[in-house]
Amino acid sequence: MKTLVVDDELVSRKKMQRIMDTLGECEAAENGEVALKIAMSENPPDIILLDIIMPGMDGYEACRRLKADKRTSKIPVIFISAQSKQEDETKGLGLGAVDYITKPFSPAIVRARVQIHLELKKHRDHLEELVKERTAELTKANAELRREIEERKRAEEEQKRLETQLQRAQKMEAIGTLAGGVAHDLNNILGGVINYPELLLMEMPEESPLRKPILTIQKSGEKAAAIVQDLLTLARRGVAVSEVVDLNHIVSEYLISLEYEKLKEFHPNVKLETDFKEDLSNILGSPVHLSTSIMNLVSNAAEAMPEGGKIFISTQNRYIDQPLRGYDDVTEGDYVTLTVSDTGAGISPEDIEKIFEPFYTKKKMGRSGTGLGMAVVWGTVKDHKGYIDVQSTEGKARPPRLSARDLPAMRVRKARRAGGGQGTTFTLYFPVTRKELTKDRSLVSIQDYMGKGESIQG
Ligand SMILES: Nc1ncnc2c1ncn2[C@@H]1O[C@H](COP(=O)(O)OP(=O)(O)OP(=O)(O)O)[C@@H](O)[C@H]1O
Ligand SMILES: [Mg+2]
Repeated sequence: MKTLVVDDELVSRKKMQRIMDTLGECEAAENGEVALKIAMSENPPDIILLDIIMPGMDGYEACRRLKADKRTSKIPVIFISAQSKQEDETKGLGLGAVDYITKPFSPAIVRARVQIHLELKKHRDHLEELVKERTAELTKANAELRREIEERKRAEEEQKRLETQLQRAQKMEAIGTLAGGVAHDLNNILGGVINYPELLLMEMPEESPLRKPILTIQKSGEKAAAIVQDLLTLARRGVAVSEVVDLNHIVSEYLISLEYEKLKEFHPNVKLETDFKEDLSNILGSPVHLSTSIMNLVSNAAEAMPEGGKIFISTQNRYIDQPLRGYDDVTEGDYVTLTVSDTGAGISPEDIEKIFEPFYTKKKMGRSGTGLGMAVVWGTVKDHKGYIDVQSTEGKARPPRLSARDLPAMRVRKARRAGGGQGTTFTLYFPVTRKELTKDRSLVSIQDYMGKGESIQG
């Protein structure tokens, strides 16, 4: 325990020191400045006995400064003064002193009061320490609670996401079964609608006025048959996925097909770029259905950019080493991915939940198809035991400005940024097979379909 006695008179100082010595260490100062210096030193006192009238800085000023400084404000100050007027006491206590003793004083009283204040200080310090500890504990508990809440929220979100996925899968399954049943029955009936006009036309003279309506019946029958075919695909009946397929080959064949030529004519301001992975792994699949899926993805992309834009098709070998979360959750394994991106208007989160449903379309009926395109893609991917991911950002479609020097892989990203960040990317994951191509497919030179920066503009 250390006491500091501050008094300008040597005799008083010595007397006080003698009284205080019995309580422990006691230091003395002859004025306010020295007292402040000691109070702020590395070995500060536990209590200060302060005279008021002193040359230079008086006791009041010293007390004011002690209380104003964070380092010394907690040290109890007791005024010891010959000033015995009430206003002096009021002033001293008002400055933050804990006590006021008037001279002449009894040594025993001074010692007793000092002891009381030292005791009080000890308890106060202890209390403060307790409060500090408790606050730290509470802060920690609070942080823990916050972390637990976040964790629970995350778990709930994950649960919701899985439920949505499950509901989506169940819904697609139910719709698929229904569509498949209808398609199966219609398929048989349509045989007559398509075949009989053919026979009738053969028997009919060239100039017969009935030829035209019969031809219309035949055309309608063929259109219906195409829809039924799509329905059968999405109902996933009878799709054989046993052929060893090189996806690069399927995409490149599509790019030289008649359908693609027609698409180019319809969308003269849409540019297409490709980035085919050399040494792409093979997959087991159905070339016809894969090709239809690519066609659907590309035509949707083009249709999403009525004022022009960019489509980017790429293939990749990808090893997924831990389950990948997305529209579908992709399990671990080796995959070949097919990505089709566009810089179009994008799809809202609510619509994304529906785009794979058969007959869901936002397009004007008649001009485009029936809303079966994405349903066929879904069915095909599921038949191939693959997964789909969709990333989309909505925005107003506008054609991006691009430099010819941009790297292919960066182009669509840059194009999407340039177009306000909007656009859609479909990524299809197909499990790799170790089987080798058996047909002459492998003979097609990769040069024939490597990304040449083809353009729908031609
Ligand atoms: N790349 C895309 N960008 C924006 N919207 C898309 C894209 N792909 C699909 N969609 C949305 O999904 C809906 C369903 O697509 P889907 O291909 O199944 O039908 P459709 O294109 O409307 O008609 P169909 O393909 O039968 O001609 C579309 O109407 C469109 O709103
Ligand atoms: Mg479509």
